[in-house]
Amino acid sequence: MHNRVCELLGIEFPILAFTHCRDVVAAVTRAGGMGVLGAAGHTPEELDIDLKWITEQVGGRPFGVDLIVPAKYVGKDEGGVSRSELRARIPQAHRDFVEDIMRRYDVPPLPEGDGPRRGGGDAAPMSYDQAVPLMDVAFSYPIGLIVNALGSPPPDMVARAREHGVKVAALAGKAAHAVRHVAAGVDLVIAQGYEAGGHTGDIATMVLIPEIVDAVAPVPVLAAGGIGSGRQMAAALALGAEGVWCGSVWLTTEEAETHPLVKQKFLAATSSDTLRSRSKTGKPARQLRSAWTDEWDSAASPGPLPMPLQPILIGEASVRIDRAAKDLSSGAGQLANYFVGQVVGSMNEVKPAARVVLEMVEQFIDAVQRLETMMG
Ligand SMILES: Cc1cc2nc3c(=O)[nH]c(=O)nc-3n(C[C@H](O)[C@H](O)[C@H](O)COP(=O)(O)O)c2cc1C
Repeated sequence: MHNRVCELLGIEFPILAFTHCRDVVAAVTRAGGMGVLGAAGHTPEELDIDLKWITEQVGGRPFGVDLIVPAKYVGKDEGGVSRSELRARIPQAHRDFVEDIMRRYDVPPLPEGDGPRRGGGDAAPMSYDQAVPLMDVAFSYPIGLIVNALGSPPPDMVARAREHGVKVAALAGKAAHAVRHVAAGVDLVIAQGYEAGGHTGDIATMVLIPEIVDAVAPVPVLAAGGIGSGRQMAAALALGAEGVWCGSVWLTTEEAETHPLVKQKFLAATSSDTLRSRSKTGKPARQLRSAWTDEWDSAASPGPLPMPLQPILIGEASVRIDRAAKDLSSGAGQLANYFVGQVVGSMNEVKPAARVVLEMVEQFIDAVQRLETMMG
């Protein structure tokens, strides 16, 4: 395929894969798309290991890194507040609610020495302070793209990218966000609609893409949210996007390190089985509905705390659930869930990531040819 996104990023197909799994990054990149490693939850040491491995795997093809520096979070206006200080601000009622869920669902405590991974020392999760050491690692590798989620990339991210010849992108759920990202210096806007897995706004992809394409022209746009097939890719490109950015579809690939029970739930889920919930991160994020999201929506819930207090509150409970979730009948199995978009309804088979890319290209060609036959 040939278009501005292929040229800008030096890739064969304008298909970008957001994933936390380095094997998916390498597989998609080798298949001619571009894998982008979601690194917000990595420690700098883990990121270093993963980027070294990916660099060795992809034979010089470009890949990317995605970080989260939100436009708004608790502590930002105070110049950055540490994780331990933020932890002290969590109300007792919220701690009790989480412990009560663990007790009612019979989720065992963690063995001695086990616990949530922690990067960036005492920096708060999903904060600028946590992202800086990750940027240091990312820019020491031959990445082709750096992406920011939940806000415009901070000035030093853009400046360092320019210095290293790295392209910059950011996710937008509204045209106004996209315009701000362009003013901040991005080379690409990722227009992500309501259907998407993870943090997402309330405007559907079908409406959002043309709005953003028009608002930021001539800056190229990638379409995200609900794209997992070549037919959806053709629709996105018809709306004016010049590439696609997919997240959910990789979660049931052979390479994905999705929790086995959650992978099983995804394969069985329909497109009605997701919802937006603030119960994981404090901001609305689409995920599979489970006993966890139901508990936070129940009358007894004190309501989720804002980012990053909620992830600090639930960090250990999430690890406890993941460790104990072995089957659907256990309490932990009922609670277990993960971020995923409405496209989960079409994710019914485990496939290699490269096959997802190539099927998407084949279906795209079929869709375009079918449309062409409608012309006189
Ligand atoms: C499991 C999961 C985690 C995500 N985490 C992030 C993230 O850390 N940073 C980010 O930019 N986007 C994140 N997203 C959103 C994706 O980048 C992407 O925009 C979205 O998945 C596209 O919609 P889709 O899920 O319908 O493919 C996440 C999505 C999923 C499914």
